[in-house]
Formats: sequence, C-alpha cells, structure tokens
Amino acid sequence: MRIYISRDMASVALGADDVARAFEEAGCDVVRTGSRGLFSIEPLVEVEQDGARIGYGPVGPQDVAAVLDGSHAARLGRVDDLPFFASQQRFTFARCGLTDPVSLDDYQAHGGWKGLERARSLPSAEVVEIVTASGLRGRGGAGFPTGIKWKTVLDARSADKFIVCNADEGDSGTFADRMLMEGDPYCLIEGMAIAAHAVGAGHGYIYVRSEYPFAIRTMRAAIEASAHLVAPFTLEVREGAGAYVCGEETALLDSIEGKRGQVRAKPPLPALQGLFGKPTVINNVLSLAAVPFILAEGAEAYASVGFGRSRGTMPVQLAGNVRHGGLYEVGFGITLGELVNDVGGGTASGRAVRAVQVGGPLGAYFPPSMFHLPFDYESFAQAGGLIGHAGITVFDDSVDMAHMARFALKFCAAESCGKCTPCRIGSTRGVEIMDHIIAARGGAPASRTRQEDTGYLGKALYSRAPDRIDVSVDAQVGLLRDLSDVMKHGSLCALGGFTPYPVLSALDYFPEDFGASSPVTEAAE
Ligand code: NAI
Ligand code: SF4
Repeated sequence: MRIYISRDMASVALGADDVARAFEEAGCDVVRTGSRGLFSIEPLVEVEQDGARIGYGPVGPQDVAAVLDGSHAARLGRVDDLPFFASQQRFTFARCGLTDPVSLDDYQAHGGWKGLERARSLPSAEVVEIVTASGLRGRGGAGFPTGIKWKTVLDARSADKFIVCNADEGDSGTFADRMLMEGDPYCLIEGMAIAAHAVGAGHGYIYVRSEYPFAIRTMRAAIEASAHLVAPFTLEVREGAGAYVCGEETALLDSIEGKRGQVRAKPPLPALQGLFGKPTVINNVLSLAAVPFILAEGAEAYASVGFGRSRGTMPVQLAGNVRHGGLYEVGFGITLGELVNDVGGGTASGRAVRAVQVGGPLGAYFPPSMFHLPFDYESFAQAGGLIGHAGITVFDDSVDMAHMARFALKFCAAESCGKCTPCRIGSTRGVEIMDHIIAARGGAPASRTRQEDTGYLGKALYSRAPDRIDVSVDAQVGLLRDLSDVMKHGSLCALGGFTPYPVLSALDYFPEDFGASSPVTEAAE
C-alpha cells in the first residue's frame, strides 16, 4: 500500500519521521513529500486508494493499524476536497505536498520544465515581456514589477551577470520560502534558469538562512540532480550566517561576497551593479518560483487572477495564535477577515482576535475593525501597513500592544546593521521611551529629575531641559511619534524605515494599552 507523509521541517517537528518509520515497518511503500501546508492536521498520512489520497491526521506511530484498516477517528476523507485546500488557487505551490521533492520523474510528470522549455524557445526579450505582462511583482515584500527588474538587467552591458535568489526568509511568522525549497526545489531551480535565459546570466546563487538546514540539504541535492537539465546555467547554495539584515538585498550581496552583511546605499541598483559589481537579478524565492507557471501557462493565465495592480496569487502564511495555521495560496483580493476567520478559524486559544500583524516584525498591527481590507499591496499601503512577505500573525485579546510596540523597537535594535543613525540609535532610544510609557501607565510619577533618570532623557535629548523632565505618557507618546518620523524618513533601509509601522499602528489602533489620555490625535502617516 502506498502512503504519503511529509518530510517538511514543520511536519518532522510534529513527529512525521516516527510516523513514516512505523508505516515502513508495517511493510508500506512510504513516499516522503513536501507539506500540504495545514499544520493542524500534521503529521498527515495520506493513503492512496483508487487513485485518490485519503488523509488521516494528526496521526502518531501507534495509529498504523487503525489507518490501514480505515477505522481511525482522524479520517479526513479526500485531502483535495478539504475546504482549506479546495478553496485555494495553487499556481506556485501546485506540486508541494503531492510529489517527492527530489524526484526528477515526479517533477516532470507534474508539469515540470515546461516553462523552461518554452522560455528557451523564445528570445530573451520576449521572456521578459511575458513576465512583465503577467503583472508579477516582487514577493519579498516591496512589490516591484519583476519584468521591469529583469529588463534592467537584460539591457545592462556586461559579460557577467548573476541570478541571486533571496531565501533569507527572516520575517517572523513566514515559512513559504522554506516550504517551497523543501517541497518543490526544482520549481525554484526552473524559475532561476528561466531568469538566467531572460537576462543572459551564467551563474546563480541561492542564499538560504542557516536556520533552514532541511531546505539547504534539499536544494543542494536538487541542484546536483538537475544540473544537466539547466546547463549551461549553473547554481549553488550559500548559507546565511543568521543576521536579519542579510535579507536586505544589498547586505545579502555583501554576505555572498564574503563580507560582513551591511546595507549598501542605492543607487547603484543591484540590477546594474550587484554581485561583484555585475548586473544582478535578485528576487525572492516566491517571485522566481512563480515564473515557471507564467511561462508554461501564459501571462494571461496568471494575470487573470488578482485584485487591482496586484496580479496573480500570493502564498499567505497564517501563524501565531490561530486555529488553522499554515500556507494558503490564493489570488489577491481576499479580505484580511476572510483569511483570519474563515481560513484560519480564529484564534487557537478560542478567545477573541484582538490584533493581527501583517508583513512580519516590521508590519502594522490591525484590529478586527480593519478586516474588510482586501489583501493587496496598495490597500495595505493606504492603510498604513504592508503585506510584506504575506505573513499574518494572530493575537487574541490577552495581548498587550504596548509590549508589542516595545518588541518591534527591541527587534530593530538587536538586528540593526549599525550603518545609519536613525536606526542604530533610534531603535534603542525607542525602547527606552517604551519603558517610560509602560512604567508611567502603571502609575509611575509623571516627572523625574535628570539625576533620577538613567536613560537618555537625562543625558542627551534633554541636556538643556529644566531640572524636572516630563515622563508622562502623553509627553512620551509625542516623543515616540517624533522618533518614528525620523526613523521612517531617515533610515537607509527597510529595517529602520519600517520599524515605525508596528509602533505607530499599535499607538493608533490600541491607544488604551499605552495609557495615553485619549483620544490619540496624531494619525500615522
Ligand atoms: P525597494 O523598493 O528599494 O526595491 C525593491 C526591489 O526593486 C529591489 O530589488 C530593487 O533593487 C529593485 N528596483 C527598484 N527600482 C528598480 C529599477 N528601476 N530597476 C530595477 N530594479 C529596481 O525595496 P527593498 O528595500 O529591496 O525591500 C523592502 C521590502 O522588503 C519591504 O517592503 C519589506 O516588506 C520587505 N522585507 C521582507 C523581508 C522578508 O523576510 N522577506 C524582511 C524585511 C523586509
Ligand atoms: Fe543598517 Fe538599520 Fe540603517 Fe538599515 S536602517 S542600513 S539595518 S542601520
């Protein structure tokens, strides 16, 4: 009997290896796949019956007999028919969870290499036009049109050009890059080979964070197995050293070059002077992995799905305090509320949802009153947020938003590369301000002498201030807004520049947690 069990890191963390071993010992033919992406049913065991896959999950090693005779209580029926999967539009993750990730036969049998074949039958410029017509935008977060980026590299004159894949997925609550690399590595390789043909590049790098050992192993095995199919294009994996800022494209390039990962000023754009000073396409995993579908099925098939200027699908990642956490690929335009309540099933704790953070640690917090927002780049930007890499982290009504604002600043202070002052100094000053706010809302005195203050208030900013300084919540909130403004407009990269998003959104939507005398009037820009 053929059984399918995921070998994805998340499934393994939930016990999939033990389950697979138990089925093998029972004499089953076990195929290890990528994950389907719904973690509440992992470890998921799929039994092949009459051409369909019948799911059971979650399952433990002790459940083998009950699964094999069909009596197990966690019988889910046909996995494809479960609402979580049936309602998705899987363009990028079509194979993930279905196939053996490193089997070339499986990849070919499920439509693999069709996109590359078509691309190689066309002149480079035509491939770039197809990608432009699809409306694909950078899935790393900034949403820059992929076709325009490729055209810049195509038009750049150089004997050497590179394709770099940003797989330094550092945003909290995101795992789509990892799942794709572990579950369908040839899809990424095919996308990179298409990019190489489109711009005239000979070599590529996949920069994977060191926290993803499974992805690194799988990608390396897949690169070796498919080398003859993508030749003369060659590629290799580079392991990141664990700094969040290396997800910023220029710091990432420095890191590949063997330097300490530090942000470079732009211009020059990497498209013109990137890796080793050569024209470089640098795209996120999801951008590159979307390309084989676009070439194989046509730009129109991709662009026909979506909302406004956000075309195609987005692999949304639901995490945090959510009942059905996982990966849900869907066309842009679904509302935030549908994602959190209908797809995610609300909180895992069963309490009311109070806030969701969209776009990783630098994304804004939104209350349920904003759940009407359609999931697309422009709507979120207009609402003072970003969709980023499409990570959604859910919090219930026990969350303290003042502490979440402090966390954002603390995170920035820890991860800052130190190159520019607003981020390097501002984040630390911000943590100090938040400490004052948290102390003051708890009833601490509203003013202190300069000598009493051990933080910056007595030292720098208020060096010419009167003896007693105002540490009331309102004064500190005003200071925090000023500081956010400086960080937003004065930072060199998104780390310092976007940290104000979670801070200001927490202040705007949850002023009661800061103890400010309401209403908080100044709106975030
Ligand atoms: P950006 O807006 O400066 O650039 C976007 C991309 O377009 C870059 O690759 C840039 O080189 C390219 N580009 C811009 N103009 C171009 C032109 N005329 N021709 C060719 N290429 C051009 O944004 P940045 O700083 O690269 O990224 C910021 C984003 O990163 C944020 O929106 C945030 O959501 C996201 N982010 C993602 C994280 C993750 O884990 N995936 C972590 C932190 C931030
Ligand atoms: Fe470095 Fe922060 Fe400045 Fe970015 S904003 S360049 S991470 S110091």
